[in-house]
Amino acid sequence: MTPDHLQHTGTRPSPPALPLPPLARDEFDVGETPDSLERLVACARESGDLFRIHAPSRGSDTWVVNDPADIKRVLVTNHRNYTKGIGLDRVAILLGNGIMTSEGDTWRRQRRMIQPLFHRGVVERHAKLIDDCTDARLERWRDSAARGEPIDVPTETSELTLDIVLRAIFGDDLDWLGERTGANPFAIVTAEPERNLLFAYRFRSLSRVIGELVARRRAESEERPDFLGMLMAARDRDTGAPMSDRELLDEVMTLIVAGHETTAAALNFVWYLLSQHPAAESRLHAELDAVPERRGLAYEDTEALRYTQAVIQEALRLYPPGWVLTRRTVESDVLSGYTIPAGTDLIVSPYLIGRHPAHWPAPDWFRPERFLDDDPRGRWIYIPFAAGPRHCVGENFAMYEMTVHVARVARRWRLELVDDGPLQLEAAINLRSRQALRMNLLPRH
Ligand code: HEM
Repeated sequence: MTPDHLQHTGTRPSPPALPLPPLARDEFDVGETPDSLERLVACARESGDLFRIHAPSRGSDTWVVNDPADIKRVLVTNHRNYTKGIGLDRVAILLGNGIMTSEGDTWRRQRRMIQPLFHRGVVERHAKLIDDCTDARLERWRDSAARGEPIDVPTETSELTLDIVLRAIFGDDLDWLGERTGANPFAIVTAEPERNLLFAYRFRSLSRVIGELVARRRAESEERPDFLGMLMAARDRDTGAPMSDRELLDEVMTLIVAGHETTAAALNFVWYLLSQHPAAESRLHAELDAVPERRGLAYEDTEALRYTQAVIQEALRLYPPGWVLTRRTVESDVLSGYTIPAGTDLIVSPYLIGRHPAHWPAPDWFRPERFLDDDPRGRWIYIPFAAGPRHCVGENFAMYEMTVHVARVARRWRLELVDDGPLQLEAAINLRSRQALRMNLLPRH
């Protein structure tokens, strides 16, 4: 029976408002303000594992998802219901419609064609180039050490990881690209730290010379073992079609950006943390000193350096370069018993969940040992490479490259921080150290 007060008006009762998770007292656009990380941490402390932050620029709320079961649902079991949302808008201008930014069938097709580049057995084929790039860097560091001059770690790691990813993509043709343009055409990637419109324009203007290289290689019809060669040889499983020039270009640009900045940031945090934790540093040295140094390590040789890898994993837990993953719901969904409406922006933060006090004992301490007898990945509390079908396609490459680098450097030197003081973080697209990290190279032997 219709209640009396509705009978005169003829209107139907509106459905009861759905209960919403708590709204944080602070309001800001996550990732758009320089202090986003500190504010996000403060909100999580007050508001629990599922809450909303009002985003003034959009006039809507961003949901923050910090419960392992919800994280699993968003990234893995119901991942098809989540697109990348605002994160995608931020980087699309730089990366075009490559694997990082595309969605749906386009993404699935690109992912299937790119994934084989990063299988363990394929990654170790880059051993020589990673050793060679590392040798060149060690040579320079030897000179700095001999002169007693500190090195600027972020500059060094940025140049090293860029060098490695460019050689992995273009092989020897990197030299041809340099001759063609009269310089290293990719130098702007390390020389220019801003990731703004001007950078995007200058970066995309490299398309022309890369297009020329693709045309040159097509004319040769010789298959090359580098990433570009593999991308050109890849075929769509269903149609047998190769990638178009546009697709090749977007993927090359994506691999350059995704493969270089994150890895460099992670290495900076590794060296910083080791410089602050002598016991961990000694244990690392003991592991490395127990085996002779070799070039051309197989993938499993790097995994056998258990403590070295644990140091890197722990650094990634405390300071995940990809500190925030953005998503947007396609249809409504249910998270922790709350209905999240269609079209809602949400974030999952590898930083927040990686330091969650309910899931990690002494969460803010640097304790690589915690990774020695435990693999927390299946619990959805350790996600520096994300998780599920859109997890980092380059994870194996990154772990291999970082392990080789850390092992070879730590055999030779201790890195001592010149300017002491707490680490200040800049949380933009990637998490980086705000201050210069100048370090002295102290010979170990
Ligand atoms: C320490 C190093 C690295 C970290 C911490 C890292 C982290 C991540 C994260 C968190 C994502 C997921 C982003 C999201 O879902 O919103 C991602 C995706 C991706 N990463 Fe990495 N990454 C690293 C190194 C690399 C390297 C070396 C490469 C390639 C050479 C690479 C290529 C990619 C690509 C292509 C994607 C997009 C995958 C897709 O959407 O299917 N990454 N990475």
